Amino acid sequence: AKPIILVTRKLPAQAQARLSALTSVTVRQHLSTAPISHSALLSDIRGSSALICLLSDKVDSELLEAAGPQLRAVSTVSVGYDHVDTQALKQHNVRLGYTPDVLTDATADTTVLLALMASRLAKAALAKAAKGESAFTLSEGLGSQFTGKTLGIVGLGRIGCATGRRLLPFGFTRVLYTGSQPHSARAGALNAEFVGFHELLQLADLVCVCCPLTDRTRGMFGREAFQHAKPGSILVNTARGAVIDQEALLEALDAGALAHAALDVTVPEPLPAGHPLLCHPKCTVLPHIGSATEETRNAMANLAIDNALAAVLGQPMPAEVCIGIE
Ligand code: GLV
Ligand code: GLV
Repeated sequence: AKPIILVTRKLPAQAQARLSALTSVTVRQHLSTAPISHSALLSDIRGSSALICLLSDKVDSELLEAAGPQLRAVSTVSVGYDHVDTQALKQHNVRLGYTPDVLTDATADTTVLLALMASRLAKAALAKAAKGESAFTLSEGLGSQFTGKTLGIVGLGRIGCATGRRLLPFGFTRVLYTGSQPHSARAGALNAEFVGFHELLQLADLVCVCCPLTDRTRGMFGREAFQHAKPGSILVNTARGAVIDQEALLEALDAGALAHAALDVTVPEPLPAGHPLLCHPKCTVLPHIGSATEETRNAMANLAIDNALAAVLGQPMPAEVCIGIE
């Protein structure tokens, strides 16, 4: 029998056509645009050799046990893999594929989009325009600009670096970054200085969160952090919602500790209608569109297919997370 690849979602058109044309494997797929239930996932994975999934699919030991011993790889259509229990994968000798690089530009673009929306108060301006009201006054509804300001990047990885490259031409005169360790090559290209997290918050006018969600970064933006925020600063998060303590963020916005927060990622996703962050005049929320371009989503899905096929054939995956499997 041909190996089975379980795919939990409909893919973008070009990648979907390629997947549907595969003949070396049997594709079992949920052709939906909505997340699959955990119970459906548990029953459908039985007998699969690879799983192509999204960040809304929780991959844990229960799922790996339900799959059976022929499961070779989990191939997530994302660069983040905080939804995957990597210890459990290692114990089950299941490899992990992901999609770095191909989504870097799109995600950095989204970071810039949110930074500009926040600094120019686009949320309020759009609401005015939608009501047919004028925002053209000399004195009201004024935003701020980046010229002469300090940029702070939390996590100078691929996306953090691409964000810095895009934002520098807006006229920032200083770039700071923080993270688990300095990256001198990446920092050199941006002339960025490595600082501690609180120092970055004290000095940066625009803080962009570009780090993965890990035990170290979960809740990193909490009450204590917001006490260090530079008054009038803007916080943009295109990483993972759980890096920010949302209760603490709401308090900080109400207290005027920050000028604006602009979030592509939240807990939960989506936020329910009427959620205080959606209604807050100082908060702009997008529904996780970081990588949502035709080009990038096809590239991500194709890389996820490549990862799954390689693993099923016992070949090296083009983009594998090193979790300690030989
Ligand atoms: C999206 O959030 C991703 O991790 O690719
Ligand atoms: C992931 O966070 C990346 O920088 O690609």
